[in-house]
Amino acid sequence: RTVYLNGDYLPEDQAKVSIFDRGFLMADGVYEVTSVLGGKLIDFDGHAVRLQRSLDALDMTHPSDKDTLLEVHRELVARNGITDGMIYLQITRGAPGDRDFAYPPKDTPPTIVLFTQDKPGMADSPMAKTGMKVISIPDMRWGRRDIKTVQLLYPSMGKMMAKAAGVDDAWMVEEDTVTEGTSNNAYIVKGNTIVTRQRDHDILHGITRAAVLRFAAEAQMKIEERPFTIAEAQEADEAFITSASTFVMPVVEIDGVAVGAGKPGPVAARLREIYLEESR
Ligand code: PDD
Repeated sequence: RTVYLNGDYLPEDQAKVSIFDRGFLMADGVYEVTSVLGGKLIDFDGHAVRLQRSLDALDMTHPSDKDTLLEVHRELVARNGITDGMIYLQITRGAPGDRDFAYPPKDTPPTIVLFTQDKPGMADSPMAKTGMKVISIPDMRWGRRDIKTVQLLYPSMGKMMAKAAGVDDAWMVEEDTVTEGTSNNAYIVKGNTIVTRQRDHDILHGITRAAVLRFAAEAQMKIEERPFTIAEAQEADEAFITSASTFVMPVVEIDGVAVGAGKPGPVAARLREIYLEESR
């Protein structure tokens, strides 16, 4: 596999980063995951805009620019022969040489890494037909979840808790309301209304979320952006998640309680279909 590191295309085993890199020592970095379907990048612009927003929020310098990044994404897709899959991009504050809590001088070169993940047929995931099961766990992440940082330890713990409970993922709960899934945004459906948490500091502002809400509005569905509880979700007609890696994925069980008929519902199925159709 060819990867990209600080301006160079390299075989993955030759791409090396300093042990003093602040991404490694302090999780001082941001990332994006962009999906590829049929060789085409999905929502590249949205990811580029959110990347800039994350960098700005952390007072980090963009080591490149949007057009160059697009070029790198395309080049990696071509070199690695990706038809369906994902491109991971990470920018960290670089390696100033010593461990220090304070940010290093602005001229410290950031580290930028991109690599691809091949996922043949990812749009035809069998889970779209069966739906997924989730448990709820307390949201113990930090208070700026709208910045897409590489501090993913708590979401990893959440995935492990889900696994231990024999389910697929966890929905995180804070002050009785659902924030989001470990790596996705959460939704419920009641009648013709889609409910999903408003965009604030508590959740990542999903790029897939923006697209799906746009398609839902175009399809005359009603959208309420507000918090909801696990109890409300368990009583909803449907539930689903969105992310660049799952697109729209139905949720059929929450904490052992079936949602609706306990099967993927028509709204999630329709939104998934529209999303995949419009994106490809
Ligand atoms: N995760 N919320 C969280 C906490 C996420 O990590 C993600 C994405 C999303 C959905 O955002 P988007 O629609 O832009 O992918 C919401 C990516 C896929 C990941 O970490 O692999």
